[in-house]
Amino acid sequence: MTHYNEFGLAGQVAIVTGAASGIGRGCAVALATAGCQVVVNHLPDEADKVEELVREIGSFGGQAVPFAADVSQEDQVEAMFAAACSRFGTVHILVSNAGIQSGAPFQDMTFEQWRKVMAVNLDGQFLCARAAVKEFLRRGPQPEISLATGKIICMSSVHQIIPWAFEANYAASKGGVMLLMRSLAQELAVHRIRVNAVAPGAIQTPINRAAWEEPAAMEDLLKLIPYGRIGQPGDIANAVLFLASDLSDYITGTTLMPDGGMSLYPAFRGAG
Ligand code: BGC
Repeated sequence: MTHYNEFGLAGQVAIVTGAASGIGRGCAVALATAGCQVVVNHLPDEADKVEELVREIGSFGGQAVPFAADVSQEDQVEAMFAAACSRFGTVHILVSNAGIQSGAPFQDMTFEQWRKVMAVNLDGQFLCARAAVKEFLRRGPQPEISLATGKIICMSSVHQIIPWAFEANYAASKGGVMLLMRSLAQELAVHRIRVNAVAPGAIQTPINRAAWEEPAAMEDLLKLIPYGRIGQPGDIANAVLFLASDLSDYITGTTLMPDGGMSLYPAFRGAG
């Protein structure tokens, strides 16, 4: 059992994008359990799922409010940060998690498919990070709340370094997330704003259902994971809690890779 109160996050305000399901949902629950006030971002057609999430968080005394916004739309992202600040006063933590996949053999990939993935996975990171940084700088340091003036955690993927056939748009977007994150970390450390990434491997969520639902698919997947199990949203939430908390106060510009060893080129074990 994780002792979430040890993270010292009580009273901080967090925005989690793409929180209706999967990793984002897990992060929202974990941050609320740790005592954060959480804005759970979702798409308009996910309102039912988020209502249930807000109820679940309320059932253990946590605080969460839903906000529908498409992270690729500038006006919607600005409206979300304005709503978070008017409700909770400020924002301390951004978990920029919203992401999509839309793969195809490269010669068949439409420009629309390319642009949609870039829009959500990379424009969304830009828009949310910019809004968060503006608010962190406006508010200034609050050392009694957190040593850092603000914390940004970008949800990346092992595919920020592992090339991915038939998912060129996705891999390119995550490679972009990595250098966006590192550039922001370099630029903003002087303001005590920490920017880090979490790059999950295969986590059991709706985005990759095809990779784990059938036993044969799961068997193939496990060949890529030396640690011998698929990941769970909680594995990622634990990394996010660490990067959001003062336990990681000296860490910026880093990627944590909770992936069960997927990025260790497991096929080379005894080969090559
Ligand atoms: C993708 C998943 C995939 C995993 C490992 C993630 O970023 O969203 O679909 O299973 O990487 O390949």
